[in-house]
Amino acid sequence: MFLVTGANGDLGRRIIRRLRDQEMPVRAFSRLTSRYSELENRGAEVFIGDLKIDKDIHKACQGIEYIISAHRGPSDVQAVDYRANIELIDCALKLGVKHFVFISVLGVERGYEDSPTFKAKREVEKYLKASGLNYTILQPSGFASNLLPLAERFRDTGVYLLIGDSQNRTSIVSTDDLAKIAVDSVRVKAACNQTFPVGGPEIISRGEIAQIFSRIFNREPIVINPPLFVFDGLRNTLGLFNSELQKSLGTLRVLLANEFFCTAEEIESLETIFEMNMESLESFIRRKMGVARINN
Ligand SMILES: NC(=O)c1ccc[n+]([C@@H]2O[C@H](COP(=O)([O-])OP(=O)(O)OC[C@H]3O[C@@H](n4cnc5c(N)ncnc54)[C@H](OP(=O)(O)O)[C@@H]3O)[C@@H](O)[C@H]2O)c1
Repeated sequence: MFLVTGANGDLGRRIIRRLRDQEMPVRAFSRLTSRYSELENRGAEVFIGDLKIDKDIHKACQGIEYIISAHRGPSDVQAVDYRANIELIDCALKLGVKHFVFISVLGVERGYEDSPTFKAKREVEKYLKASGLNYTILQPSGFASNLLPLAERFRDTGVYLLIGDSQNRTSIVSTDDLAKIAVDSVRVKAACNQTFPVGGPEIISRGEIAQIFSRIFNREPIVINPPLFVFDGLRNTLGLFNSELQKSLGTLRVLLANEFFCTAEEIESLETIFEMNMESLESFIRRKMGVARINN
């Protein structure tokens, strides 16, 4: 039996679908407030709980062989991204869980002081590696599924909002590919006790995303590109009223100000180990939005 946290999230939902397509038994950790009927319909066992409550974590781990930790709690990083994972790891050890897959983030080792999320992921990685559990740590770049609302807006208006340096590079990963890698990590021998950066097959500048949308929807992009200091100004002003919000925007600031991409060698190695071809951003958006490529 698998336990998947963040079961209703962008990634978690895809992990559950994949596990259920393979008829694997899976317990989906969900909050009562989540929309979990799709998971139930797919035959997942829905466990209602809150990752901030240790008792819920203990109960959810009973009878579990594999854990995939795919949750995040941007408004309470300390409790959700850090403590809940430490508790999950401790329970996994106590109960003899066979393998623990942790979804971290690309660039985690750079130690960004301004981002509570990066710091939490880094500490959880260290704890998991030292725990003695069999583990796989996946460090993804930004998810392609995050861009779907932006693609819809582009389709309707041609507008693409790009904050900060348009030359910063990224390798957006197909959220479906990441779900496959997360699920396969527990059975692929070469993935045991390994850490993998996970990105798409190409390195693109953030500015090129507007060009990709332009190709897909066949319209000229209107790129609105405020510099980073505009974001900083807004963030500082918000901080006068709400210092917690100012702190939590630190992770977004880190993401906007830095480059996050995988090398060609890292992608080649992933494709070999997991026997797959990583999907490009363009292909992902076309597939999800039903826009076929027209070959002239
Ligand atoms: N999105 C990205 O671009 C990106 C990039 C790199 C790494 N990651 C990592 O990848 C993982 C998946 O990200 P995602 O974008 O799929 O996340 P997401 O869509 O934001 O979903 C997060 C999930 O965590 C659950 N959650 C939050 N607080 C909880 C609590 N107290 N108790 C129980 N569940 C709780 C949410 O439950 P509800 O449904 O009830 O809200 C939701 O299902 C995360 O670990 C994230 O840090 C994401």
